[in-house]
This record gives sequence, structure tokens and C-alpha cells, in this order.
Amino acid sequence: MKEKMLDFVGKVVFLTGGGGQIGAKTEELFLRQRAKVVSTDIDFPPLDDRVDFDANPLKLALDVTNKQGVQQLISQTVENCGRIDIVVNAAGILNIKPFLEISEQDWDRTFAVNVKGMFFVCQEALKQMIEQKAGCFVNFASISGKVGGVLAGADYSASKAAVICLTKSLAKVGAPHGIRANSVAPGAVYSPMLDLYYRDHAEEMKGFEEKHPLGRFGRADEVASTVLFLASDQASYITGACVDINGGTLMD
Ligand SMILES: NC(=O)c1ccc[n+]([C@@H]2O[C@H](COP(=O)([O-])OP(=O)(O)OC[C@H]3O[C@@H](n4cnc5c(N)ncnc54)[C@H](O)[C@@H]3O)[C@@H](O)[C@H]2O)c1
Repeated sequence: MKEKMLDFVGKVVFLTGGGGQIGAKTEELFLRQRAKVVSTDIDFPPLDDRVDFDANPLKLALDVTNKQGVQQLISQTVENCGRIDIVVNAAGILNIKPFLEISEQDWDRTFAVNVKGMFFVCQEALKQMIEQKAGCFVNFASISGKVGGVLAGADYSASKAAVICLTKSLAKVGAPHGIRANSVAPGAVYSPMLDLYYRDHAEEMKGFEEKHPLGRFGRADEVASTVLFLASDQASYITGACVDINGGTLMD
């Protein structure tokens, strides 16, 4: 059997949340493996007439909750890059409000970005992948979507549980067309935001990191490398899975 390596030469990757710490690391690893990366984020510069689709990475603004915007950018990507091989949905927002303080607006916004926006991207890219008869998705869930909020609110946790199931549905629909879909469920990852959380909840957080079987939180590159593995031919028989990346703090 031919050895299958992490080889992304000529592959077109469509990434959301590319401006975030994990998204940026994912973009970097794909570029190192010589993929073509269309990296999108709500904070990136807007699409205009001068967009150079030969740029790599190509960084473009996309608000995933804007269905028309998603359709337009995916169609422009296909027009200019010829195909979409891999979609990584890393865009997401976190809400850490206590259960009783979560407003209807909080709930709707969290679900709009984390679930509905992801659905728009998956639905649009799936149409293209069905034509190609190939492709794969890696969607960002969270350990919170399995156990209820760890450092996160109920709206965030529920949205990430929805991501796990959305991805399973996508995997079932895609499988007959040679398309795979998996989610990842990171635990806590070192970040400025985690530092802030520690600062504000020092007492409550005492011993939390040490309780992880591997004795520490995760790094963005450890999450990104799992994404690359799932997107690679080495994972050709993995679909519908939710892969834990949590240092052993949840084993299910
Ligand atoms: N960092 C962690 O500890 C952790 C743990 C579990 C799961 N996750 C998930 O991993 C993913 C990446 O996390 P991160 O730590 O890089 O977060 P991050 O906040 O650094 O990045 C998220 C990115 O999503 C973008 N975004 C927000 N709303 C958007 C919208 N409407 N349209 C497009 N982009 C939008 C933000 O601008 C940001 O760049 C998220 O889905 C997050 O929920 C993170």
C-alpha cells in the first residue's frame, strides 16, 4: 500500500476564524504543507475588486452569519481556485456568563455564529464537494459540548453539542459522495483569554490545570495538528467522529 503522508500540495483549504489563535495556527500548518489557504474571519479586510486569488494565504473578511456573504465567497473561491478540498470551521464566540445571567440575545448570538453560521458554510461547500465527489470538513466543537460548561456558559456548551451532531449529519450525507466530516473537541488551550479568566477567577481555578492527566492545558499547535491529521488522507476511514484534544481530562 502507498504510504499516505500529511501531503496537502495543491489542496484548497477554506478556513473560518482564521484570525483566531487556533485558526491562525491551523493556517500556518497548512501553509507549511503547501496547501492553498483561503483564510476568512469577521475581522479580516473586506472583499473588493482587487482581491488577488493567487495570494497564499488569501485573507478575506467573512461573517459566517451572513448567508449571502458565505455563498458569494465560496462561489468566488471555486471560480478562482477551481475547487474546495478542505473546510475548517474554526470561527466561534465564547460566552462565560453564569446560567442565570444569559440573555435571549446572548443565546441567539452564540447559536448564530457557532451553529447557524457553520451550517451555512457546510451547506454551501458541500454542494461543491458533491460535484467534486471528494472533500472533507473539520468543525470546531469543544469539551464543553460534551460535559456542559467547563469555563463556558450554557449557550456556548449547547452550541458546541449542536456542532457535534451537525457534523455527524454532514458525515452521513457526505459519505456516499466520498466526503468526510469530523469535529474536534479541545479542552482548555493556553491563550490570553484563559490568562484573563484565571486572573478573575483565581480561587475557583486553583488546581484545575494540575488535575489534567497530562498535567497541563493544550497548545494551539496541538489542536491545529489534529485538524491537519483529520483533513489528511491518513484519516481516510474516519468520519462522523468527534476527536477529543484535552490532555485526558475527559475520556469517553
Ligand atoms: N481556545 C480554547 O480553549 C478552545 C477550547 C475549545 C474549543 N474552542 C473552539 O475553537 C475555535 C477556535 O478558538 P480560538 O481559541 O482560536 O478562538 P478565537 O476567539 O481566538 O478565534 C475565533 C475567531 O472567530 C472569529 N469570529 C467570531 N465571530 C465570527 C463571525 N460571525 N464570522 C466569522 N468569524 C468570526 C473571531 O474574529 C476570531 O478570530 C472556536 O470555535 C472555539 O469555540 C476553543
